[in-house]
Amino acid sequence: MTEKGLEHIPVLLNETVEGLAIKSNGCYIDGTFGRGGHAKAILASLSQKGKLLGLDKDPEAIKAGQSLARQDGRFDIEECSFATLSQVVNARLWQGKVDGILLDIGVSSPQLDMAERGFSFQKDGPLDMRMNPNVGISAAEWIATAEMTEIERILKTLGEERFGKRIARAIVETRDESPLMTTKQLAALVDKASPVREKNKHPATRTFQAIRIHINNELDDLTEVLQQAVDALASGGRLAVISFHSLEDRIVKRFFRDQAKGDDLPSYFPVTADQLNPTIKLVSKAIKAGEQELSVNPRARSAVLRIVEKVT
Ligand SMILES: C[S@@+](CC[C@H](N)C(=O)[O-])C[C@H]1O[C@@H](n2cnc3c(N)ncnc32)[C@H](O)[C@@H]1O
Repeated sequence: MTEKGLEHIPVLLNETVEGLAIKSNGCYIDGTFGRGGHAKAILASLSQKGKLLGLDKDPEAIKAGQSLARQDGRFDIEECSFATLSQVVNARLWQGKVDGILLDIGVSSPQLDMAERGFSFQKDGPLDMRMNPNVGISAAEWIATAEMTEIERILKTLGEERFGKRIARAIVETRDESPLMTTKQLAALVDKASPVREKNKHPATRTFQAIRIHINNELDDLTEVLQQAVDALASGGRLAVISFHSLEDRIVKRFFRDQAKGDDLPSYFPVTADQLNPTIKLVSKAIKAGEQELSVNPRARSAVLRIVEKVT
């Protein structure tokens, strides 16, 4: 166990490392370092000439990365959003030279497990939910000021919460009397406002997911990074993306499909598939965790891994 008994078990670890087809002298980027589970496995496949750069938004992840960087000269870490990947790559003169990029989207177990980060409805903490608590507004600040229609929209679109309207109304009625400051306050409010219970799912699950995704700009960051990642890759380089819910996976799947198809010409145009200039090819179908992994890490249940290879 690491910091205060918290750890992150990397999901689909073997599948990801295999899928990246690591070149031992290659140059790699882990855009979501977390606690370095995947990063350490990538380093284990690299020779002394190989390089790995880790990125993360979260200062706690950066501390873990700095400690790894002190022990391993092949590794470096930067605190930033992966949505700024092009800048990071250009600053290192790595554009078009990266052999593999990993994005293991979403939150880490330590983020969920540390009550003071405010991500979890199961632990009482300040309603924060920021991956970088020094940037942007907290969930409590957003809830205190957002219009009711905006809250409803976020709950419905990012949480697929069918009771978004009721919950948004309950949030606004409550906050008008006293501010919503803690995770337990919000969880109890959603519980009370939800007319139906889903089996094995706390009624606040979707609300917390939606607010977290919104506060951290998660879908926009994902949308922005994909093209930058393909641009950063060398020919034959691979991009592996692990997503944890359908909204993210849809973005990844559509981007990969469109890029693998190439130019969007009408079907009657007399060109062959390779004349459409596809930038990537799909390496495999979507990969999910097997029973053995799920038995030790239930958080892997919703993980989906997709891998592509740059062809131009
Ligand atoms: C699922 S965890 C990654 C775990 C990691 N693969 C491991 O094995 O320890 C996701 C990590 O990505 C970070 N993250 C999420 N969105 C990010 C973004 N846009 N830019 C940089 N880091 C991000 C989170 O702070 C979190 O540490």
